[in-house]
Amino acid sequence: MKERIEVMIPEEQLLARVRELAEQISKRYAGKELKLICILKGSIFFTTELAKRITLPVKLDFMSVSSYENGTTSTGRIRIVKDLDDSIRDEHVLVVEDIVDSGRTLSFLMEMLKSRQPASLSLCTLLDKPDRRVVDVTVDYTGFQIPDEFVVGFGLDYAQKYRTLPYVGILKMDEA
Ligand code: IMP
Ligand code: MG
Repeated sequence: MKERIEVMIPEEQLLARVRELAEQISKRYAGKELKLICILKGSIFFTTELAKRITLPVKLDFMSVSSYENGTTSTGRIRIVKDLDDSIRDEHVLVVEDIVDSGRTLSFLMEMLKSRQPASLSLCTLLDKPDRRVVDVTVDYTGFQIPDEFVVGFGLDYAQKYRTLPYVGILKMDEA
């Protein structure tokens, strides 16, 4: 099988949408300080682009959870690989994710973070595949709803490859 990437969302379109989201978020949290939680590794590119455009004092923290092993199918197993450095108690927290697929990762994560008693807790995702949802999750900010395709780039990987592509593309497998 030969891997090929077909552009789905070009860079300019991604950044234009990031700008809109940042504006919306800046308005919604006006007068407050915001903590962005970047879910490693997929959301690093989205988080940095978004954070730079939010016109409020922003703190960053990072968390890494694993749900997918090496491939395109969910294992259903979720494990904290790296926890946050600091407490989120009484803070306004916005979780920044690359993609919501089955919803398993986020539903687990949001419940866990809620138990740490932040002042508020919301979720922002660059991509959403609503057709794939198995577990309900409330998404407060969505960049793009996309069809059920496996995508890579702008942080998203396939077996750790393609994260650094500046666009979001569909991973195609061609017969060699
Ligand atoms: P969920 O728990 O099924 O919602 O899975 C979410 C996680 O699966 C994301 O944070 C990604 O790491 C990964 N994932 C889901 N769909 C894709 C995709 O199309 N491309 C790359 N990673 C994906
Ligand atoms: Mg992820």
